[in-house]
Amino acid sequence: MSTTPPEVMISEDEIRQRVNELAEQISGDYADKGTIVLVGVLKGSFIFLADLSRRLSIPRTIEFIAVSSYGNSSIQSGAVRLVMDVRGNIEGKHVLIVEDIVDTGHTLHYLIGMMASHGPASIKTCALLHKTDSTQIDVPLDYVGFSIRDEWVVGYGLDYAERDRTLPYIGIVHPDDRD
Ligand code: PRP
Repeated sequence: MSTTPPEVMISEDEIRQRVNELAEQISGDYADKGTIVLVGVLKGSFIFLADLSRRLSIPRTIEFIAVSSYGNSSIQSGAVRLVMDVRGNIEGKHVLIVEDIVDTGHTLHYLIGMMASHGPASIKTCALLHKTDSTQIDVPLDYVGFSIRDEWVVGYGLDYAERDRTLPYIGIVHPDDRD
């Protein structure tokens, strides 16, 4: 196993600056909408959600949802299942789904359908990272932090085999080097 820290793709400062911008944009867009419900997708979104939510200037509540892709591979099969639903009632509420990364798009596609079944007033999506070249299914992305190339990224909530989630920056790992 390599002990070299992952190469920096997006620095801590760049993340902080971009999260501030997203928070400002979201706060402006929802300024007259009352309380919004931020739905974080476990596990990867936990750090992004924590930072984003604290920088909003609008009333907000927090929910979490957990999904799992079928199989245990780094290849997304497209089959997603619900592991944990939101706890609160989101019917009639403005929902913002918060993801760390959109890769193939299957997870967010599934989640939008799931959330819609709860009857919210609106559903929007926010992803810190978007792998633009990996899209298999188009999903509406309302707020995107960074569009990135197809690399295995870790840190700021994202992992490689559960490692490196708490790195303060977005780094690149090469799976062949990390077995
Ligand atoms: C990641 C990420 C998204 C999903 C995106 O989750 O958090 O939920 O993959 O991939 P997709 O666009 O190809 O569907 P992961 O399965 O790694 O779980 P984790 O967040 O618990 O690490």
